[in-house]
Amino acid sequence: MKSMVVYDSVYGNTKKVAEAIAEEIKAGGNEAVLVNLRENAKPALEGDMMFLGSPTRWFKMTSVAKDFAKNLKAMGWKEQPIVMFDTMMGVPEDMAERNKGSWATKGAAAKLRDLAKADGLNVKDEVLHIGVTGMKGPLTATGQEEAKNYTKQALASLNK
Ligand SMILES: Cc1cc2nc3c(=O)[nH]c(=O)nc-3n(C[C@H](O)[C@H](O)[C@H](O)COP(=O)(O)O)c2cc1C
Repeated sequence: MKSMVVYDSVYGNTKKVAEAIAEEIKAGGNEAVLVNLRENAKPALEGDMMFLGSPTRWFKMTSVAKDFAKNLKAMGWKEQPIVMFDTMMGVPEDMAERNKGSWATKGAAAKLRDLAKADGLNVKDEVLHIGVTGMKGPLTATGQEEAKNYTKQALASLNK
């Protein structure tokens, strides 16, 4: 199984999360294709699933991440599942709380999810929020580990 891990990052925090996700995919014996959208805005799309991430800036995704998500279908991404992730401040400590109540629509990942869903893409409703402790970061101490655990679970549930 091959997964794309595509991300935007301004200060490097979302990059670290993307790298943790890719590391976990590889640790499970699968292939990961890591793409930084600021280096490659139109990567060749391949693989069985995608993780797509963005920093949260002014409550939403960056324009770089938005442009990529908007073009996914036109670029040939079909029914393969997509998991959205972001970095943002004020994330609840308990991961189970991060998609509940008002959190269901918060952050870059929720906006990316809704955009891709409106295009008919196969996006997981639940998104992955990883916390930063200030406007420019750094990630919370547990952030990378949380990203890895989430990735492991997402891969397991998709392989069922
Ligand atoms: C201009 C700007 C706007 C931001 N807006 C938000 C926001 O609306 N909500 C939030 O939780 N964090 C916000 N943040 C904090 C970012 O989420 C944080 O910079 C980001 O996680 C860093 O990711 P990066 O290092 O990958 O760029 C903002 C930061 C900047 C610089």
